[in-house]
Amino acid sequence: MRIVPTGQSLGVSIEDLDLAKPVSDADYKKILRALGHHGVLCFPRQTLETGAFAAFGRLFGDLEINVANQFHEPGHPEVMILSNITRDGRPTGLGDAGQGWHTDMSYSRDIALANLLYAIQVPMRDCRPLGDTQFRNMHAAYDDLPADMKRRLEGRTATHDFVKFWDMMRAKPGSTRAPLTAEQRAKKPPVKQPIFATHPITGRKILYCNPGYALWIDDMDAAESAETLDYLFAHQAQDKYFHAHKWTAGDVLMWDNIGTVHNAVPDYRPDEPRYIRRVQIMATKDYARLAA
Ligand code: SIN
Repeated sequence: MRIVPTGQSLGVSIEDLDLAKPVSDADYKKILRALGHHGVLCFPRQTLETGAFAAFGRLFGDLEINVANQFHEPGHPEVMILSNITRDGRPTGLGDAGQGWHTDMSYSRDIALANLLYAIQVPMRDCRPLGDTQFRNMHAAYDDLPADMKRRLEGRTATHDFVKFWDMMRAKPGSTRAPLTAEQRAKKPPVKQPIFATHPITGRKILYCNPGYALWIDDMDAAESAETLDYLFAHQAQDKYFHAHKWTAGDVLMWDNIGTVHNAVPDYRPDEPRYIRRVQIMATKDYARLAA
């Protein structure tokens, strides 16, 4: 297994590793460390059955079953389908997943370690891939914050709510997302998250606050909270923290869902098919020990 950095703020390519085969303890440790330190890992040229894809994800933690999702692979409720393809007039997958900067599962008391996506079909135009997934580095964003901002927000929390992102997506023209049912809503109540969290692999502080889900800073005057969140979101949006993954079919992409924010770019048309399998890996293990 070889780790080849992209040279950007985030991202490595992990070469010469076949994810359909058992992963050795030494490689597992290297993957976990690379996830903490580089944030976005691409395993190119993979050929995986759905079960093997999910099994690789499960090595790192329990897999989430999304209560709001009706699109998953048959027999695998944990393997969500992200796709713009329709069959007999019906969508085969969630067509607008992640189209806005966010961190998956920050709206949940139990947060996610990582996201794992497997590209089956990538939209192409003029021989160029479309539908990039973009990232920003929240270790670096925390490091660069002015000392007085770090002092002011240390120990404080922000309220994150699943409904914020869901409703943003619903408000987009042509959205087919239904309002959440009372049952779905009850399963996703708002939660308070630390604005600065400690990363479970690197042990370093990160900025854990994203525009997709964070609504306000708790116990702060509303205007000051809005102004501070605007500042944090503009700060984390700087180019120096940016990395874009350009997809090739067969890529498995694993990203750190604690130390990054991400955004899916909807720059492809309905006749440019995209089909991606996804599992969400919950942070259910002692990663500091496993990576040591
Ligand atoms: C996501 O936010 O999980 C979706 C990312 C993508 O489809 O590129």
